[in-house]
Amino acid sequence: MNLNGIKITWLGHATFLLVTPGGKNLILDPWITSNPATPADKKKIDKLDYMLISHGHSDHFADAVDLAKKHNPKVAGMYELCTFLQKKGAKQIAPMNKGGTQQVGDIKVSMVNAHHSNTIDDDGSSVPGGEPCGFVIEFENGVKLYHAGDTCAFSDMQLIGELYKPDVALLPIGDYYTMDPKAAAVAVRMLGVNHVIPMHYGTFPTLTGTPAALREALQTLGLSEVEMIEMKPGQTI
Ligand code: NI
Ligand code: MN
Repeated sequence: MNLNGIKITWLGHATFLLVTPGGKNLILDPWITSNPATPADKKKIDKLDYMLISHGHSDHFADAVDLAKKHNPKVAGMYELCTFLQKKGAKQIAPMNKGGTQQVGDIKVSMVNAHHSNTIDDDGSSVPGGEPCGFVIEFENGVKLYHAGDTCAFSDMQLIGELYKPDVALLPIGDYYTMDPKAAAVAVRMLGVNHVIPMHYGTFPTLTGTPAALREALQTLGLSEVEMIEMKPGQTI
């Protein structure tokens, strides 16, 4: 697909480092240090302007506090999750809720629904993080990217397609904690996207969904025109 100057690096699992056409760095669901899928040479983040977090489970959040303190990015996320981060030292929070859109630097961030749970590990005790969510990010070049967070497929993905018209969807396919490849293919149809990047698979043995299974499911649904972009952890497109 033509990203028109946007760079997407998959750091493994649900963690992506994006560079905007204007050169700003954005991290989605920061889990790096203890993420077994993150290549060793990609564990260090040099600069961070924005951070977006779908929910507080450690496989999406483990590095959030450290990165917020080190780089002072603008942090957009669910209200409760942002205020948790603020208490832990994040200086620039941009709390929001589902249905809302806000400008964060040079990107436009819309918060959308996700069906999952959301707790945060607070030094061994589990605290509520508000509801989990997904995001649609609109870049200044007009490209719109949907990061689903952790979720099952749900019929309001059609509404996300109608309202925000994403060009590319980052969808979990691992099964067990999220949708599986068959459901992800249905999600692609509901969203009306032409490009899909599978994520949240292969990291643990329980995550059994594969890109090959997604490709097959897309074909079964007659969605052969949809481009599935299978990334390798550490790869940049
Ligand atoms: Ni989760
Ligand atoms: Mn997860």
